[in-house]
Amino acid sequence: MSIKEKTGRPIGDLLAEGESPDELYAALRAAFEADRNAASTDRHVRSLRDRWLGRRNGLLSAANEHWLKAAPRELKPTIGRLQNILRGQLQAAVKEAARAASKPVATDTGLDVTLPGQERVLGAVHPVRLALEEVLDIFRPLGYSVTEGPEIESFFYNFEALNFPANHPAVDEMDTLFLEDRVLLRTHTSPCQIRIMEAETPPLRSVVHGKVYRNDTPDATHSPMFHQLEMFAVDTNITFGDLKGTLEHFARRFFGPATKARFRPSYFPFTEPSAEVDITCPFCSGNGCRICKRTGFIEVLGCGMIDPSVLRNAGLDPYRYQGFAAGFGLDRFAMLKYGIDDILMMYQGDVRFLRQFR
Ligand code: DAH
Repeated sequence: MSIKEKTGRPIGDLLAEGESPDELYAALRAAFEADRNAASTDRHVRSLRDRWLGRRNGLLSAANEHWLKAAPRELKPTIGRLQNILRGQLQAAVKEAARAASKPVATDTGLDVTLPGQERVLGAVHPVRLALEEVLDIFRPLGYSVTEGPEIESFFYNFEALNFPANHPAVDEMDTLFLEDRVLLRTHTSPCQIRIMEAETPPLRSVVHGKVYRNDTPDATHSPMFHQLEMFAVDTNITFGDLKGTLEHFARRFFGPATKARFRPSYFPFTEPSAEVDITCPFCSGNGCRICKRTGFIEVLGCGMIDPSVLRNAGLDPYRYQGFAAGFGLDRFAMLKYGIDDILMMYQGDVRFLRQFR
């Protein structure tokens, strides 16, 4: 007779057939053990629990009904004790089986293939890199090649070849960081104009970008290291009109189709004539706001026709070749485009800030 059948019968009958309460409960316990040993998965353990501890149809409930309740008065204490012990054992064993079934499965390599995978945190693109890529996407189709150039530069390339007169105040104005006599951290990307003009023959269309350094006190608009981008072209028959057209095209693509560019006469040692370019303020669309100081325009870059003596310093014949050049701060472009009001945010590595630029 199976244990299931036994638990379904009144205990009086079983006792009459010669079973003792101890034997009955031991048999019940043994049947449970066999059942439990076969339960290896979560699902098995759940049905084990229901089969044995289920309120209505569980075997323990059946034993309760037909053995304990139906026991002759003098056997009730014994059967009650056996029943309680068994209940405690079954509950503990089911709990343990559940824990074992959900335990990591170790393979013989020691690798637990059931562990949840580790989520890889996706990095975000830094706003300066984002701005750079957008700028390059505009210049590349116009035929511009892209290089970076050295950050440690000579006095000659950084200043002299660019037509800065000896003792020019710009050497101080640019807050140059010297490493040794006549060796410095480049203060701008313009020295790469010379390097490229020396190394290649026109026609040239070039973009140079990278870190530049100035001994500035950090504040919301100054960082001792920031990023510049220089674009220049050298060819025969290049005019200021080409420069204007190129920069206007660039401004509209980068800042939006309604952007207007305004060229103001200015001075740089390495360009003649020189200009500074203002664009329609991207924050108020030119209506005037706090950021553009109510002018509707914001200054974004310096540019000009490459000074003939710069061409000559780089070994090119200024009677044959002309060129234009423009330089700007990528950090500032990123700030204008993405509405960042403090340049230092970009260099503090705060992921809450950086994550916004996926
Ligand atoms: N190198 C200049 C600076 O750092 C920016 C600049 C102005 C670059 C005019 C140019 C240019 O190529 O034509 O302030």
